[in-house]
Amino acid sequence: MEKRAKLYEGKAKILYATDNPDCVIQYFKDDATAFNAKKKGTVDEKGIMNNAISTKVFEYLGQNGIPTHFVRQLSDREMLVKKVEIVKVEVIIRNRAAGSLCRNYGVTEGRTLSAPVLEFCYKEDAFNDPLMNETHILALDIATASEIATIRELTFKINELMKKFFLALNIELIDFKVEFGRHKGEVILADEISPDTCRFWEVGTGVRLDKDRFRHDLGNIKEGYQEVLKRVTGKAA
Ligand code: TMP
Ligand code: ASP
Repeated sequence: MEKRAKLYEGKAKILYATDNPDCVIQYFKDDATAFNAKKKGTVDEKGIMNNAISTKVFEYLGQNGIPTHFVRQLSDREMLVKKVEIVKVEVIIRNRAAGSLCRNYGVTEGRTLSAPVLEFCYKEDAFNDPLMNETHILALDIATASEIATIRELTFKINELMKKFFLALNIELIDFKVEFGRHKGEVILADEISPDTCRFWEVGTGVRLDKDRFRHDLGNIKEGYQEVLKRVTGKAA
C-alpha cells in the first residue's frame, strides 16, 4: 500500500490518497477541538488511542452486519478505509441527556430518556453544524429519501450494537455521533468511533471517559481515553 498525496485535513484526522483509487488512508492526529474549534488543544497519543479504539469498534460492527469503510489498521496512527463521498450530515443518537440536548432544551444532565433521540446536524463548520430535520436534508439535496432511510436504520442498529458492546466493558453509551459516506452506490458508516465522538460514562461511578474531560477541563484527559482503550482492546496504552 503506497501512501500518496494529502487529500484533506480535518480537525482530528488527515486523509491521504493511496495507489488504490478505491481506498484512502485515515491518519489520526492528537489535536482536539471543542465548541466548533473555539477551544483547541492536543491530547498526547489521542490519535494512537482513537485509531485503535475505532478499529475495534468498526471490526465489531462489521461482524454484526453494519457496512463500514474500515479495511484494516495500517500502523499506530493510520487506518486504511474505503474512499467515500461524505454525506454532509452528522447523525447523533442520545440514550441519556447530556451536552447540547441539555443546553437546547433545559434538561438536567444524566436524565433518562424515554426513547432514544435521533438528531441530524448539517456538517458545515461555517454555520456551526445546525440541527436539521429530514425535510431539510431532502429539500437541500443533501441525501435522497432512500439514503436517509438507510442512515436511520443503520444508526439505530449501531446504537443497539454499541450499547451492548460497551456495557460488557462496564461503560454506558450516553450518546454518539456518526457519519456516513457513499461508496460504489452504497451508503456505509465512515469517519471514526472513539471517545471524541461518543460520551462514555463508567457504570456505577458515572466517571466520564470521553472528550468531555477536554471540553470541560475535568483533568486526566489522556487517562480517560486510555481507560476506554484498555477495556476495548484488553491492553494498556
Ligand atoms: P453534543 O451534545 O455536543 O451535541 O454532542 C452529541 C454527541 O456527538 C457527543 O457524543 C459528542 C459528539 N459530537 C461529535 O462527535 N462532533 C461534534 O462536532 C459534536 C458537536 C458532537
Ligand atoms: N469536534 C467539534 C469541534 O470542534 C466539537 C466537539 O466535539 O465538541 O469543534
